[in-house]
Amino acid sequence: MKIKFKLIAVAALIMLSGAFKVNAQRKAKAHAPVPQLGKSTLKQVIAAMTLQEKSKLVVGMGFKMPGVPAPVKGEKPKAVDIGGFKLPPSDPEAYEIPEKVPGAAGRTHAIARLGIPSITVSDGPAGVRIEPKRPNDNKTYYATAFPVGTLLASTWDTAMVRKVGVAFGNEVREYGIDILLAPALNIHRNPLGGRNFEYYSEDPLVAGSMTAAIVKGIQSNGVGTSIKHYAANNQETNRNSINTIVSERAMREIYLRGFELAVKTSQPWTVMSSYNKLNGTFTSQRRDLLTGILKNEWGLRGFVMTDWFGGQDAVAQMNAGNDLLMPGNPDQSDAIVAAVKSGQLSMQQLDANVERILKVILISPTFTKYKYSDKPDLAGHAKVSRMAAAQGMILLKNDGSVLPLSVNKRVAVFGNTSYAPIAGGTGSGDVNKAYSVSLAEGFNNMGYKVQEALAKAYKDYIADAKSKQPKQQNFFMLPPPIPEFDPTDFILKEADGADEAVITVGRNAGEGRDRKLENDYYLTFGEKALIANVSKAFHDKGKKVVVVLNIGGVIEVASWRDQVDAILLAWQPGLEGGNAIADVVSGKVNPSGHLATTFAMDYKDEPTAKTFPGTPEAKPEQVTYDEGVYVGYRYFDTYKVKPAYEFGYGLSYTKFKLSDIAVSAPDFKGKVTVKATVTNTGDVAGKEVVQLYLSAPAKNIDKPEQELKAFVKTGLLAPGQSQFLVFTLRASDLASFYTSKSAWIADAGEYKVKVGTSSRNIEKTVSFTLAKDIVTEKTNTALTPVTPVEEWKGKQ
Ligand code: BGC
Repeated sequence: MKIKFKLIAVAALIMLSGAFKVNAQRKAKAHAPVPQLGKSTLKQVIAAMTLQEKSKLVVGMGFKMPGVPAPVKGEKPKAVDIGGFKLPPSDPEAYEIPEKVPGAAGRTHAIARLGIPSITVSDGPAGVRIEPKRPNDNKTYYATAFPVGTLLASTWDTAMVRKVGVAFGNEVREYGIDILLAPALNIHRNPLGGRNFEYYSEDPLVAGSMTAAIVKGIQSNGVGTSIKHYAANNQETNRNSINTIVSERAMREIYLRGFELAVKTSQPWTVMSSYNKLNGTFTSQRRDLLTGILKNEWGLRGFVMTDWFGGQDAVAQMNAGNDLLMPGNPDQSDAIVAAVKSGQLSMQQLDANVERILKVILISPTFTKYKYSDKPDLAGHAKVSRMAAAQGMILLKNDGSVLPLSVNKRVAVFGNTSYAPIAGGTGSGDVNKAYSVSLAEGFNNMGYKVQEALAKAYKDYIADAKSKQPKQQNFFMLPPPIPEFDPTDFILKEADGADEAVITVGRNAGEGRDRKLENDYYLTFGEKALIANVSKAFHDKGKKVVVVLNIGGVIEVASWRDQVDAILLAWQPGLEGGNAIADVVSGKVNPSGHLATTFAMDYKDEPTAKTFPGTPEAKPEQVTYDEGVYVGYRYFDTYKVKPAYEFGYGLSYTKFKLSDIAVSAPDFKGKVTVKATVTNTGDVAGKEVVQLYLSAPAKNIDKPEQELKAFVKTGLLAPGQSQFLVFTLRASDLASFYTSKSAWIADAGEYKVKVGTSSRNIEKTVSFTLAKDIVTEKTNTALTPVTPVEEWKGKQ
């Protein structure tokens, strides 16, 4: 009995002391300071987060979509339909908590108790996209419209693109934004792609190099980027659910390659997954794409966010490693909480996603309490924009050296967009800029005498037509373009009175829809008539006609180009466009842009003409990339189809000669170098783009005729001046992706190196031999199509 009592007493004592301990621990915990981001370790901060807090951090705060009413207080937010686009219920907090930067695209949730601030993200690829005016505030918040991505790529000048990034990133920082939702680097798979203007090129090396350059420039300001849209998002038709069917090889060699390059060499703070499905599954729900390839194989240190409302299943997205869901809504957070409770989503995965987001927040300007000015150096950045614009314009034709045009000339300026310029495309790629210099204004500024009566007639017509245009119904629906003014009454008079004619042809497009063939890819009836009539009248008087293309994507040129003397491809050149065009037309800047995308003779020559934008025709649900790796020049060169203007093409006001092209050794041992000298043999200073293409032996798999492996934009070379160039080729540059082996392999055999100034203007071919196959990289097996894609076979 005694013993029993003793035992009970001891047990009670132990229990009591245990209880004391727990209590003491609890008390200690209650009094211990709550971990704070930046002061405590990430592990401590994450351990201190409740499941609800985690579920809020990985889901954005929602955003105020123009035209969408705020949720009614006290009521459960409802889904809304905007122009046929169904938006999930908004997060009331998006309306309750004042925005740091009005007009920004989204924010994350703050968790004040743990010292986690809300960070702000904003579009887009051509400039910071925010509201330029704020209620009860007479300051303005305009941003610089830089030239569109396609123009930047046409510079082939990564140092210059980096400079644009430095200016751009400063604007991001000074407007209080943490992450810019750009650059965009999807591939120009088809000329009708509605967002091609935002994207760089049909070639992944160009796209990836430009992306890395601009990311480095932007991020040098201590702000982030979000390279987008990852991946295989090359069209807008049915963009939210189109199923892209594409082989692993085409993914690796074409559609992922640019992202890979950019991630490995510039570490963007974030990557934005795309809207589309890839081989049956939304990209934002594909673990092999986001965790396997992007994070594990390539080593992305930042986080992945969805495109706005992208994907359908928040839990699958979390499991895939899509760390942040944007713009976010409370239903997604609820689903995440429920999934952790039910075991569908592990706490470990959620913590991993949380950790990646926190790591980026830690280095954000908001976290470091940067005092932004709201006064970026807009005048300085406009100069950068103008400089870049002039560097990326491409002289397509210059018969009889019509250009440059001396500045004392009287110029008859035709075409609506000579007066109503298109600085950039629409949608999230648009920028709220304070002004946009038209070609006519730029010419006036340069000192040209722009024929006044004609200019007045155009301006009056445009003002009147604009006042009658239907209002833009929503974000995605552009008002129709104003039909070309008919200047018939002026043409003969101008052919007498003016020295030269300039005609601008303009095009606009943007997210949400692809371009059309009629009246877009092909010229309109009015444009054809304009070119024909002006050319006839001016040529009859022995005067010349120049066409300026103010376009964001490829158009048909072959049917009308013979009628005119010169063609300048100005792309969509940003807010200083007219001045930059005048810089090039006058010869103040010698054109040095080269095409980073092919201009076909006709749409039917495009490799993707039959498959774009997918099937069924009425409402495409699926698009099959049966051309495989034969995209752009890889197709035109391999299948011997003559383009109107080939990839890499561009004229100059001077001439260049390539010489002394030689390979360092006949046999490949780890690397080879290729040397070349480029000399300005003309009369004026200029820059050249020297390109290196490689033809690899097609031993076991078919391969493109040639592929761009390196390029250099020279400095400004004075007449007679030379620049010595060295290109290095490593084993990885020789390799193709072998799906059967999930590996990059360089095949043994003879490699031909072609050095030239376009894909079809090759100065010399040299070669070297690889003695034995090299497996340059073994990858995970990933992205396998549900049924194998029947692809074209190229040369074999
Ligand atoms: C676009 C993205 C953009 C996002 C936020 C989406 O509609 O596809 O490129 O960053 O909106 O505005």
